[in-house]
Amino acid sequence: MAELLESVILGDGIQLRNRICMGSMTRNRCTDGNKPTHANIKHYTDRARDGAGLIVAEGTFISLNGAEWPHAPVMYQDHSDAWAKVTSEVHKVGGKILFIFQPWHPGRIQNDSMPMLKESGYPVYAPSKVPAKGGKYRTLEGLPGHTDNITEIDDPRVIVEQYRHSVSLTKSARFDGIELPAQGGYLLHNFLCSHSNTRSDQYGGSVENRCRFRSKSSMPLLRSGDLEQSGSTSALQMTIMTP
Ligand SMILES: Cc1cc2nc3c(=O)[nH]c(=O)nc-3n(C[C@H](O)[C@H](O)[C@H](O)COP(=O)(O)O)c2cc1C
Repeated sequence: MAELLESVILGDGIQLRNRICMGSMTRNRCTDGNKPTHANIKHYTDRARDGAGLIVAEGTFISLNGAEWPHAPVMYQDHSDAWAKVTSEVHKVGGKILFIFQPWHPGRIQNDSMPMLKESGYPVYAPSKVPAKGGKYRTLEGLPGHTDNITEIDDPRVIVEQYRHSVSLTKSARFDGIELPAQGGYLLHNFLCSHSNTRSDQYGGSVENRCRFRSKSSMPLLRSGDLEQSGSTSALQMTIMTP
């Protein structure tokens, strides 16, 4: 039986120094305009030093958002520079560690009264106007749940472009790869599930149509150009599909 600390080759030749992988964990520590700070550098370098073979960084928003974590990271141009400091320190202490970026759009799991959305007037985009149950916005008065105020995405290609843009910034941020989260009740999951996607266009209805946003649009973009040019290793994907 393989030992935990033995190296392993993942997929098409991605070498991991051991079999310990750290899952993505939102830490809500990006207090400088949603850029990672020294707290993030310490968090990841502590775990990379003689530890994991692969770390998936915390979910990082591709656009303005109103998720429950006001200090989770965003990936815009300025933020890429801040991430570069984190990846540089992680690679320094972790030798051949693989550090993965996770582009995130929370879809209907948002509240439009969270500061970033409220100040900008940016809407809560989802495939359809079907509010999500639950949610607990501890920083908002009255601890409301997820919003009812959803704007149906008119042209999904606009959001795909936001994914592409944030992924293109991983080049200068020096991430080693990408994990596209398609679970958790977030946007990609919203498109996949028939209860949150009631569209009648080519992005809703049949399983093939509900998969279109992810498979026909997002993945080819993630796999093309930017990552390969940067010499990065891969685009990983996590999909849990429920009916
Ligand atoms: C505090 C916390 C934050 C998390 N943030 C993320 C996240 O940003 N992205 C993600 O895909 N999963 C996130 N998760 C889920 C963890 O990655 C997941 O629970 C972990 O890999 C363990 O997997 P398991 O629950 O299947 O055992 C988070 C979990 C915790 C406890």
